[in-house]
Amino acid sequence: MRIGILIMLLTGLLSAAQVLPIKNKLALKECGSCHFAYQPGLLPSHSWSKIMHNLANHFGVDASLDKKDNAKIAKYYAKNSSDKSMRYLSRMITKYTRANEIRITTGSVFRSAHREVSRRYFKRKSGGAGNCMACHRTASMGYYSEE
Ligand code: HEC
Ligand code: HEC
Repeated sequence: MRIGILIMLLTGLLSAAQVLPIKNKLALKECGSCHFAYQPGLLPSHSWSKIMHNLANHFGVDASLDKKDNAKIAKYYAKNSSDKSMRYLSRMITKYTRANEIRITTGSVFRSAHREVSRRYFKRKSGGAGNCMACHRTASMGYYSEE
Protein backbone atom coordinates (compact mmCIF):
# COMPACT_ATOMS: atom_id res chain seq x y z
CA MET A 1 0.00 0.00 0.00
CA ARG A 2 3.01 2.28 0.40
CA ILE A 3 3.24 2.65 -3.36
CA GLY A 4 -0.39 3.70 -3.43
CA ILE A 5 0.24 6.38 -0.86
CA LEU A 6 3.31 7.55 -2.71
CA ILE A 7 1.38 7.82 -5.95
CA MET A 8 -1.38 9.67 -4.15
CA LEU A 9 1.12 12.13 -2.72
CA LEU A 10 2.88 12.61 -6.03
CA THR A 11 -0.28 13.15 -8.01
CA GLY A 12 -1.38 15.45 -5.20
CA LEU A 13 1.79 17.47 -5.58
CA LEU A 14 1.48 17.67 -9.32
CA SER A 15 -2.25 18.08 -9.32
CA ALA A 16 -3.82 21.30 -10.36
CA ALA A 17 -6.22 21.01 -7.47
CA GLN A 18 -4.20 22.82 -4.85
CA VAL A 19 -4.52 25.95 -2.83
CA LEU A 20 -2.10 27.32 -0.26
CA PRO A 21 -2.81 25.94 3.22
CA ILE A 22 -3.79 28.39 5.96
CA LYS A 23 -0.75 29.66 7.84
CA ASN A 24 -2.53 32.19 9.99
CA LYS A 25 -3.22 30.69 13.43
CA LEU A 26 -5.99 33.10 14.30
CA ALA A 27 -7.86 32.38 11.05
CA LEU A 28 -7.39 28.65 11.55
CA LYS A 29 -8.79 28.83 15.04
CA GLU A 30 -11.68 31.24 14.51
CA CYS A 31 -12.76 30.10 11.06
CA GLY A 32 -12.23 26.46 11.83
CA SER A 33 -14.32 26.31 14.98
CA CYS A 34 -17.68 25.59 13.33
CA HIS A 35 -16.58 24.04 10.04
CA PHE A 36 -13.52 23.27 7.97
CA ALA A 37 -11.26 26.32 7.77
CA TYR A 38 -11.58 27.18 4.10
CA GLN A 39 -8.37 28.38 2.50
CA PRO A 40 -8.33 31.96 1.21
CA GLY A 41 -7.46 30.64 -2.28
CA LEU A 42 -10.94 29.12 -2.54
CA LEU A 43 -12.67 32.49 -3.10
CA PRO A 44 -11.74 35.86 -4.61
CA SER A 45 -11.13 38.90 -2.42
CA HIS A 46 -14.54 40.46 -3.13
CA SER A 47 -16.16 37.35 -1.65
CA TRP A 48 -13.96 37.30 1.45
CA SER A 49 -14.55 40.98 1.95
CA LYS A 50 -18.30 40.45 1.90
CA ILE A 51 -18.02 37.52 4.31
CA MET A 52 -15.73 39.36 6.73
CA HIS A 53 -17.98 42.43 6.76
CA ASN A 54 -21.02 40.43 7.66
CA LEU A 55 -19.96 37.89 10.29
CA ALA A 56 -22.79 38.86 12.62
CA ASN A 57 -25.17 37.42 10.06
CA HIS A 58 -23.11 34.54 8.69
CA PHE A 59 -25.31 32.00 6.92
CA GLY A 60 -27.90 32.38 9.64
CA VAL A 61 -25.49 32.27 12.59
CA ASP A 62 -23.59 34.89 14.53
CA ALA A 63 -19.88 34.37 13.85
CA SER A 64 -18.80 37.85 14.83
CA LEU A 65 -15.37 38.59 16.24
CA ASP A 66 -13.96 41.55 18.07
CA LYS A 67 -12.86 44.38 15.81
CA LYS A 68 -9.16 43.68 16.04
CA ASP A 69 -9.39 39.97 15.20
CA ASN A 70 -11.90 40.65 12.46
CA ALA A 71 -9.50 43.13 10.85
CA LYS A 72 -6.54 40.75 11.16
CA ILE A 73 -8.38 37.83 9.58
CA ALA A 74 -9.95 40.02 6.88
CA LYS A 75 -6.48 41.23 5.96
CA TYR A 76 -5.12 37.69 5.81
CA TYR A 77 -7.95 36.49 3.56
CA ALA A 78 -7.69 39.55 1.32
CA LYS A 79 -3.95 39.10 0.90
CA ASN A 80 -4.16 35.41 0.04
CA SER A 81 -7.42 35.28 -1.89
CA SER A 82 -7.73 33.36 -5.15
CA ASP A 83 -7.08 36.47 -7.25
CA LYS A 84 -3.67 36.87 -5.57
CA SER A 85 -2.66 33.29 -6.32
CA MET A 86 -1.11 31.76 -9.40
CA ARG A 87 -2.37 28.27 -8.52
CA TYR A 88 -4.51 26.81 -11.24
CA LEU A 89 -7.45 26.02 -8.97
CA SER A 90 -7.46 29.55 -7.55
CA ARG A 91 -7.20 31.09 -11.01
CA MET A 92 -10.21 29.12 -12.17
CA ILE A 93 -12.14 30.16 -9.08
CA THR A 94 -11.29 33.83 -9.66
CA LYS A 95 -12.43 33.56 -13.25
CA TYR A 96 -15.73 31.82 -12.57
CA THR A 97 -16.92 33.19 -9.24
CA ARG A 98 -19.79 35.64 -9.58
CA ALA A 99 -19.62 39.05 -7.93
CA ASN A 100 -20.76 38.92 -4.31
CA GLU A 101 -20.76 35.12 -4.16
CA ILE A 102 -20.14 34.01 -0.59
CA ARG A 103 -20.24 30.28 -1.07
CA ILE A 104 -17.56 27.99 -2.47
CA THR A 105 -19.96 25.13 -2.98
CA THR A 106 -22.35 26.92 -5.34
CA GLY A 107 -19.63 28.11 -7.72
CA SER A 108 -19.19 26.53 -11.11
CA VAL A 109 -15.64 25.35 -10.36
CA PHE A 110 -16.85 23.40 -7.35
CA ARG A 111 -19.84 22.08 -9.24
CA SER A 112 -17.84 20.92 -12.22
CA ALA A 113 -15.26 19.23 -9.97
CA HIS A 114 -18.09 17.31 -8.31
CA ARG A 115 -20.23 16.67 -11.36
CA GLU A 116 -20.13 12.96 -10.71
CA VAL A 117 -20.73 13.16 -6.98
CA SER A 118 -24.42 12.89 -6.23
CA ARG A 119 -26.27 15.07 -3.78
CA ARG A 120 -27.29 12.01 -1.79
CA TYR A 121 -23.67 10.96 -1.46
CA PHE A 122 -22.74 14.41 -0.16
CA LYS A 123 -25.44 14.17 2.48
CA ARG A 124 -24.64 10.66 3.55
CA LYS A 125 -20.89 10.93 3.56
CA SER A 126 -20.43 14.34 5.04
CA GLY A 127 -23.61 16.08 6.06
CA GLY A 128 -23.01 18.68 3.39
CA ALA A 129 -20.89 19.72 0.46
CA GLY A 130 -19.01 22.26 2.58
CA ASN A 131 -17.42 19.60 4.77
CA CYS A 132 -14.39 19.14 2.51
CA MET A 133 -12.44 17.10 5.09
CA ALA A 134 -15.00 14.30 5.09
CA CYS A 135 -13.96 13.28 1.57
CA HIS A 136 -10.62 15.00 0.99
CA ARG A 137 -8.33 13.79 3.75
CA THR A 138 -5.65 16.21 2.62
CA ALA A 139 -7.96 19.24 2.43
CA SER A 140 -6.32 21.05 5.33
CA MET A 141 -3.04 20.91 3.41
CA GLY A 142 -4.75 22.49 0.44
CA TYR A 143 -4.77 19.30 -1.65
CA TYR A 144 -8.11 18.33 -3.12
CA SER A 145 -6.93 15.34 -5.07
CA GLU A 146 -9.38 12.75 -6.25
CA GLU A 147 -9.95 10.00 -3.75
C1 HEC B 1 -20.44 30.16 14.73
C2 HEC B 1 -20.10 29.22 13.70
C3 HEC B 1 -19.26 29.72 12.51
C4 HEC B 1 -18.05 30.37 12.54
C5 HEC B 1 -17.25 30.81 13.77
C6 HEC B 1 -17.67 30.58 11.16
N1 HEC B 1 -18.60 30.03 10.32
FE1 HEC B 1 -18.51 29.99 8.30
N2 HEC B 1 -20.29 29.01 8.23
C7 HEC B 1 -21.08 28.68 9.32
C8 HEC B 1 -22.31 28.08 8.85
C9 HEC B 1 -23.46 27.60 9.72
C10 HEC B 1 -22.23 28.02 7.45
C11 HEC B 1 -23.26 27.47 6.48
C12 HEC B 1 -23.10 25.97 6.34
C13 HEC B 1 -24.00 25.42 5.27
O1 HEC B 1 -25.07 25.96 5.03
O2 HEC B 1 -23.60 24.46 4.62
C14 HEC B 1 -20.93 28.60 7.09
C15 HEC B 1 -20.47 28.71 5.80
C16 HEC B 1 -19.29 29.32 5.41
C17 HEC B 1 -18.83 29.45 4.05
C18 HEC B 1 -19.53 28.90 2.81
C19 HEC B 1 -19.17 27.42 2.60
C20 HEC B 1 -19.85 26.88 1.36
O3 HEC B 1 -20.89 26.22 1.50
O4 HEC B 1 -19.35 27.12 0.26
C21 HEC B 1 -17.66 30.15 4.07
C22 HEC B 1 -16.81 30.54 2.89
C23 HEC B 1 -17.38 30.45 5.47
N3 HEC B 1 -18.39 29.91 6.25
C24 HEC B 1 -16.28 31.16 5.92
C25 HEC B 1 -16.02 31.44 7.24
C26 HEC B 1 -14.90 32.25 7.70
C27 HEC B 1 -13.89 32.93 6.80
C28 HEC B 1 -14.96 32.27 9.07
C29 HEC B 1 -14.03 32.97 10.03
C30 HEC B 1 -14.01 34.41 9.96
C31 HEC B 1 -16.13 31.48 9.46
N4 HEC B 1 -16.74 31.02 8.34
C32 HEC B 1 -16.52 31.25 10.77
C33 HEC B 1 -20.74 28.89 10.64
C34 HEC B 1 -19.60 29.51 11.10
C1 HEC C 1 -19.01 13.92 -0.33
C2 HEC C 1 -17.59 13.96 -0.61
C3 HEC C 1 -16.94 15.29 -1.00
C4 HEC C 1 -16.99 16.50 -0.33
C5 HEC C 1 -17.73 16.83 0.93
C6 HEC C 1 -16.13 17.41 -1.08
N1 HEC C 1 -15.61 16.76 -2.16
FE1 HEC C 1 -14.33 17.55 -3.53
N2 HEC C 1 -14.37 15.81 -4.59
C7 HEC C 1 -15.02 14.65 -4.19
C8 HEC C 1 -14.81 13.62 -5.20
C9 HEC C 1 -15.34 12.18 -5.13
C10 HEC C 1 -14.02 14.20 -6.22
C11 HEC C 1 -13.53 13.55 -7.50
C12 HEC C 1 -14.62 13.77 -8.52
C13 HEC C 1 -14.47 12.93 -9.76
O1 HEC C 1 -13.64 12.04 -9.78
O2 HEC C 1 -15.21 13.20 -10.71
C14 HEC C 1 -13.77 15.58 -5.81
C15 HEC C 1 -13.02 16.51 -6.53
C16 HEC C 1 -12.66 17.77 -6.08
C17 HEC C 1 -11.80 18.69 -6.79
C18 HEC C 1 -11.13 18.40 -8.13
C19 HEC C 1 -9.89 17.56 -7.88
C20 HEC C 1 -9.07 17.28 -9.13
O3 HEC C 1 -7.95 16.76 -8.96
O4 HEC C 1 -9.52 17.58 -10.23
C21 HEC C 1 -11.68 19.80 -6.02
C22 HEC C 1 -10.84 21.05 -6.32
C23 HEC C 1 -12.48 19.61 -4.84
N3 HEC C 1 -13.07 18.35 -4.90
C24 HEC C 1 -12.60 20.53 -3.81
C25 HEC C 1 -13.48 20.38 -2.73
C26 HEC C 1 -13.71 21.41 -1.72
C27 HEC C 1 -13.02 22.75 -1.69
C28 HEC C 1 -14.64 20.89 -0.86
C29 HEC C 1 -15.27 21.58 0.34
C30 HEC C 1 -15.81 22.92 0.12
C31 HEC C 1 -14.99 19.56 -1.33
N4 HEC C 1 -14.26 19.29 -2.46
C32 HEC C 1 -15.91 18.72 -0.73
C33 HEC C 1 -15.75 14.47 -3.05
C34 HEC C 1 -16.07 15.46 -2.14
